Amino acid sequence: MRISFIGGGTMGEAIIKSLLAKEVAAPADIMVSDVSQSRRDILVKRYGVKALDDNRKASEGAEAVVLAVKPQDLGKVLGEVKGLSAQQLVLSIVAGATLDSLRQGLGHPCLVRAMPNMPAQIGEGMTVWIATAEVNQQQRELARSILAALGEEVYVSSEKYIDMATALSGSGPAYVFLVIEALTDAGVHIGLPRDIAEKLVIETMLGSTRAVKLLGKHPAELRNMVTSPGGTTTEGLLQLETGGLRSLLLKAVIAAYNKAKNLGAK
Ligand SMILES: NC(=O)c1ccc[n+]([C@@H]2O[C@H](COP(=O)([O-])OP(=O)(O)OC[C@H]3O[C@@H](n4cnc5c(N)ncnc54)[C@H](OP(=O)(O)O)[C@@H]3O)[C@@H](O)[C@H]2O)c1
Repeated sequence: MRISFIGGGTMGEAIIKSLLAKEVAAPADIMVSDVSQSRRDILVKRYGVKALDDNRKASEGAEAVVLAVKPQDLGKVLGEVKGLSAQQLVLSIVAGATLDSLRQGLGHPCLVRAMPNMPAQIGEGMTVWIATAEVNQQQRELARSILAALGEEVYVSSEKYIDMATALSGSGPAYVFLVIEALTDAGVHIGLPRDIAEKLVIETMLGSTRAVKLLGKHPAELRNMVTSPGGTTTEGLLQLETGGLRSLLLKAVIAAYNKAKNLGAK
């Protein structure tokens, strides 16, 4: 098996690292093409993979070609990789690059479009993906095994869900990081040492998230369980509701979704 990466930056490296850690592929199965000499050197040194500065050569003979360059570099890359054989699968993680634009740019029908998120860097990502009808069962399983190495993966039946996922799980880590930062600052504001405030917030986020996942209860039910009548939590919740936290989150996701749709339409 050979998996070739076009672009060995943050996400390319995250996928390579996960594929090796989860033994989906061995270093000898992986080839990276990147314009940056320093990135190539780092990847060869860290993971023992092969690296070169030739997108066409790297894609030749690979069962899967992973496109992991920035959107602005994609046009050039598609022109270089063009001419793939029918058995080759192209898996793109490039934000905003639609299946149609990839098909046109590559003249190739076997395509997967995936939207991973940042925690993929530690194998705890959330990836939403879709494949074209021409992707056969074996190629679909290969795509699934690559994406599953990054954490959870969800296959969707319509490409419109990729733009929605971009706004929710793609951008989501930034929303969560902002909440972690703000809550930590709030803890410091009322007098907690910063290191303690940070630990309390991180563990509260982790524990609460796992509780929703493992207990199988609606978040509102869990919230009710920790909200005593006339107590401290209900005072805090009153401020969050008065300040419009729910509608603010709704607006944030809608704005990100509109932006994702516009990027895809360009
Ligand atoms: N980061 C995330 O959390 C995330 C999440 C979901 C999706 N994505 C998508 O993943 C893609 C990659 O993001 P990233 O954060 O990994 O970007 P990145 O760190 O900039 O990595 C891209 C790599 O590709 C190299 N490159 C540029 N032009 C090239 C070319 N023509 N041929 C070969 N290599 C080339 C870059 O080199 P130079 O730096 O020298 O240009 C860089 O090493 C993006 O399209 C993004 O939308 C990212």
